Amino acid sequence: MKKTVLVSGGAGFIGSHVTVELLQAGYEVVVADNFSNCDRTCFEGVKKITGREDLPLEVVDFCDEAAAKAIFHKYHIDAVIHFAAFKAVGESVAEPLKYYKNNLVSFMNVLEAASEVGGCNVLFSSSATVYGEPEKVPVTEDTPRQPAMSPYGNTKTMCEDILQDTVKASGGAIKGILLRYFNPIGAHPSALIGELPRGVPNNLVPFITQTAIGKRECLSIFGNDYPTPDGTCLRDYIDIVDLARAHVFAVTRMMEGKMKKPCEIFNVGTGRPVSVMELVNAFQKVNGVKLNYKIAARRPGDVTAIWADPTLANNELGWKAERSVEDTLKSAWAWECHLAGK
Ligand code: WQD
Repeated sequence: MKKTVLVSGGAGFIGSHVTVELLQAGYEVVVADNFSNCDRTCFEGVKKITGREDLPLEVVDFCDEAAAKAIFHKYHIDAVIHFAAFKAVGESVAEPLKYYKNNLVSFMNVLEAASEVGGCNVLFSSSATVYGEPEKVPVTEDTPRQPAMSPYGNTKTMCEDILQDTVKASGGAIKGILLRYFNPIGAHPSALIGELPRGVPNNLVPFITQTAIGKRECLSIFGNDYPTPDGTCLRDYIDIVDLARAHVFAVTRMMEGKMKKPCEIFNVGTGRPVSVMELVNAFQKVNGVKLNYKIAARRPGDVTAIWADPTLANNELGWKAERSVEDTLKSAWAWECHLAGK
């Protein structure tokens, strides 16, 4: 019988891509989302890509404890991947309680529900944000975590600890994997699912594509006086489909009992630093479009340089990022054009 994976936040950017990869790898998926920060576009896209018109959908807010528990009683869940969370760094500074309440309570409800049915494999979507401004790059999983720069970042660190502690106390019933994502970008090659930022995008690539299509007037490059080769910040941009594939490897590792400890951590990145300027230039070159941009002041809270050492994920999960940044930028542009009906 097929194993079932519950994907909370499964209609969002990362969740929808992960759902596609899981279905294509032969898992059954239950998508759960409250559509608070996305519409039905990606859910419909997932059904189209996979030919699964009957894909189960639960419209639920995981902050509702009873509703969270009801899902675990309704289905036999072999693993849960938890994405359902708010993710805007700036908004989290302005409205910290909204972030702590939503991101922590929803995850605790998932863990409680999983415990109530006798345990589960739990994969949590963490972030490179837990490394703060690292003293040494690339970062390994053993690089010390730093105090987060925002309440959003704090919720990632706290959820990591909540999972670690819950796994420890569960006597083997709950197993956990923390995936620390670097900068996920791009879209599915079908251009049927992708990132759908609400309002003005905070992240670089959606801002680039929206500027190129004419929705935004000008991209601001936040600082060119950083101590990096070209003065702009360095990041590890990871293709969204590559990132999604890492989840399939992680879930399979849990299901097959191959974990080396009850709670494991993996960096999900390429190991390749790319500067903001390089990314902007690559985007223009591969897509043959001209981007209106200017150099602006640094954005408060940005770290100078961070990229992954993905050796552990490469060796233990058997996963490796495969897509080039050029192909990923082509997919991001194809998605923006698809949205614009072009
Ligand atoms: C990348 C680079 C900016 C926008 C954030 C979160 C992190 C994670 C991913 C999200 C930086 C520069 C950006 C623009 C620019 N979680 N930039 N002009 O800050 O590395 O990570 O998103 O859910 O937790 O902190 O990503 O895409 O915002 O920025 O110059 O208009 O692009 O300064 O150097 P970041 P980003």
